[in-house]
Amino acid sequence: MKTGKPSGFYFIETFGCQMNVYDSEVLAGYLENMGYLPTTKEEKSDILLLNTCAVRQKAEDKIFSRLGRLRSLKNTKPDLIIILWGCVAQQKHVAPKIRERFGFVDLVAGPHALKRFPKLLEKARLASHTIVDTEEKGSREDTPVKRMHGIKAWVPISHGCNNYCTYCIVPFVRGPEKSRHPQNIIREVEELIKTGYREITLLGQNVNSYGKDLERKIDFADLLQTLDRLAGLVHLRYMTSHPRDFNEKIIRVIREGEKICEHFHLPFQSGSNKILKLMNRGYTREYYLELMTKIKKLIPVNALTTDIIVGFPGEEKKDFEETLDIVEKVRFDAAFTFVYSPRQGTRAVNMKNHVTPAIKKKRIMLLNEIQNKISLEKNQELLGTKQIVLVEGRSKTDTNTYTARTRTNKIVHFSSAKDLLGKLITVEIIEAKPWTLLGRYT
Ligand code: 5AD
Ligand code: SF4
Repeated sequence: MKTGKPSGFYFIETFGCQMNVYDSEVLAGYLENMGYLPTTKEEKSDILLLNTCAVRQKAEDKIFSRLGRLRSLKNTKPDLIIILWGCVAQQKHVAPKIRERFGFVDLVAGPHALKRFPKLLEKARLASHTIVDTEEKGSREDTPVKRMHGIKAWVPISHGCNNYCTYCIVPFVRGPEKSRHPQNIIREVEELIKTGYREITLLGQNVNSYGKDLERKIDFADLLQTLDRLAGLVHLRYMTSHPRDFNEKIIRVIREGEKICEHFHLPFQSGSNKILKLMNRGYTREYYLELMTKIKKLIPVNALTTDIIVGFPGEEKKDFEETLDIVEKVRFDAAFTFVYSPRQGTRAVNMKNHVTPAIKKKRIMLLNEIQNKISLEKNQELLGTKQIVLVEGRSKTDTNTYTARTRTNKIVHFSSAKDLLGKLITVEIIEAKPWTLLGRYT
């Protein structure tokens, strides 16, 4: 039902990674097919969905305080359907807690339930108690999707993860790795290009091991190469990579490729071999540094970014110093830094010698100070240069202010009175900040 009076309004709030953003686009797709319209005001909504992230405790705590604040809204609007979706909801200990403390929640369901959403919603509407779906299987093919962006689109290529890094909850909430069939991915990308999308980002918890579970012999490098050849595409990106599986074949395909962007996001997590082993990362600091050298040599114009965890159990001062040493040696364009957060059910929780909050804080502050300085210096190197950027958005308050991105994933803001959305243009970099650049378009 797409015409006539809307069924009501939906409000979705998304936490966590890009995969969750994508899942929210699918949920929105289902809701719009049912005749619901989006709203940004939660008081106006008839369906309120929180799509949650469990990767760190802080993100999970945020959800429970958010639910606490929704109690009064539900009291004043009893027909409102409240849904707790995603990775927090998938964890076994959560549904009992919801039933006990937040009985007003209508539906609790994990990411595997994506395709069951319409049926679950119907059930939740009729039931007087909380409906729960934490079953660990479910197809994710042939779902609707309401894309939130007009220029760039996200396409999942695999789902779940087999790595079992000892700190990480993801394999427990998103299940084992499952690759999508290449034909489905290629068809989806072709359709997106036809609709006018200019940039595609391939998504997966570990994109580099794509295809290992498929009968047909295809790996990530093959898939990248095939997609790179599709006419009409401007930028091809992917995330997230695992250094262990990032092989030379991938680097060569990127180098030969026309559209694959020269941005390498390779989380190293820790610079200490002792900690890397405890984390079950499957590589050493020497391997990682060599990989960085190889990338820099084969693709000199590049951007390197990473994720780092400080304060993993057993991390001593010298281990942390080895992390700083990698940061200084590689000189990343940017780093996402995290304080280790114990997650129930993971192996690291039971490890010895947990680091105190005070030391964790001290370490992350020092790390951020060093990295911010490097990020700024790297951006300053671009001052006065001309950069080719894809214009991906304009400011809501000032339509002459645009946001664009280089192939190396640097955000450039600039002004122009022309209609440039979706265009590939050249700007001159006139100001550098640690996270963004200012450009001039003439
Ligand atoms: N504590 C802190 N950071 C974590 N990450 C994953 N799990 C945890 C955890 N338990 C970080 C890793 C990962 C990023 C997405 O989140 O650095 O690469
Ligand atoms: Fe968070 Fe991981 Fe779930 Fe993404 S997959 S939402 S990062 S727990």
